[in-house]
Amino acid sequence: MSAERKAFAASDADWAYHGGEYVKLGDVRLSPATHGLNYGTGVFEGIRAYWNESKGTLQVLKLREHYERFEKSCRILQIELPHTVDELCDITLEVLRRNAPREDTYIRPLAYKSATAIGVKLALDSELSIFTVPMGNYVELTGLRCAVSSWRRTSDNAIPARAKLTGSYINTALAVDTAQRAGYDDAIFLTGDGHVSEASAANIFLVRKGALLTPPPTADILEGITRDAVMELAEEELGLPTTQRDIGRTELYAADEVFLTGTGFQIAPVVEVDERPIGTGEMGPVAGRLQELYFAAARGEWDKYGDWTVAVEVARQAAG
Ligand SMILES: Cc1ncc(COP(=O)(O)O)c(C=O)c1O
Repeated sequence: MSAERKAFAASDADWAYHGGEYVKLGDVRLSPATHGLNYGTGVFEGIRAYWNESKGTLQVLKLREHYERFEKSCRILQIELPHTVDELCDITLEVLRRNAPREDTYIRPLAYKSATAIGVKLALDSELSIFTVPMGNYVELTGLRCAVSSWRRTSDNAIPARAKLTGSYINTALAVDTAQRAGYDDAIFLTGDGHVSEASAANIFLVRKGALLTPPPTADILEGITRDAVMELAEEELGLPTTQRDIGRTELYAADEVFLTGTGFQIAPVVEVDERPIGTGEMGPVAGRLQELYFAAARGEWDKYGDWTVAVEVARQAAG
């Protein structure tokens, strides 16, 4: 049945950036009264760095794009960042250099209301932390079994999905928990008005009648950076432009292919929705081809997409 989603843990011995300096993650102390912890008043990003064995580098994928979205999320939550996008990119590269992981790694920037005050408001001091976690495949990449969730996606006028807000992930956690307890790998959200929105932590694409479809930014989605990357690859390499339009629930059942995209999920085909096989019930040709193309670009193995990644040289650790 469904694979229990893997948990990827941060190590206290690793370097992080916190309070304006590089510190060991285990040395960071946060009060339980921290506003962000009590009220979900934080924003975050998830960035992947792929290990490239032949080059001896970590290839940090779409670094700038992630910090540009981070800045926009902060604006929505009235968080004033102490650094520019360029500085945030540089700090992230320095954390990676210090940790020097020779494996696929996930980077988590987090900005949150750090005041230890009781009371819900946004005009409060904020803090910025950045840490890294080793991360392989977050979900299986050969075929997920999904269910449409009875939990609806939070609306833009309630808790905006466009911003990557820590508190929003309660919506995700409820849907994933319900889906996994029922034996599915992941949940697909509908919007309040019943259109397909996105999966728990990934955007969704359908192939129908030879066309590539995805819900529009008004369908209460996080506007995924992988979503943009996949649209670019599909158009440029497969000659398949994407149509962004409202998608009905049963279009999922009628689709030839369904696949999910995200920094964590990467490109994950969906082979079943609500007990109905999608297409042949196996990974389809469009998802399969996009997976190959995406990994070549993301691992820094394809010069044409060289500007997707930033290389970090990782020295081999001295033995002993
Ligand atoms: C709710 C949600 N939607 C979509 C995505 C995909 O976004 P991205 O491709 O930028 O990682 C994520 C990724 O973390 C997510 O949490």
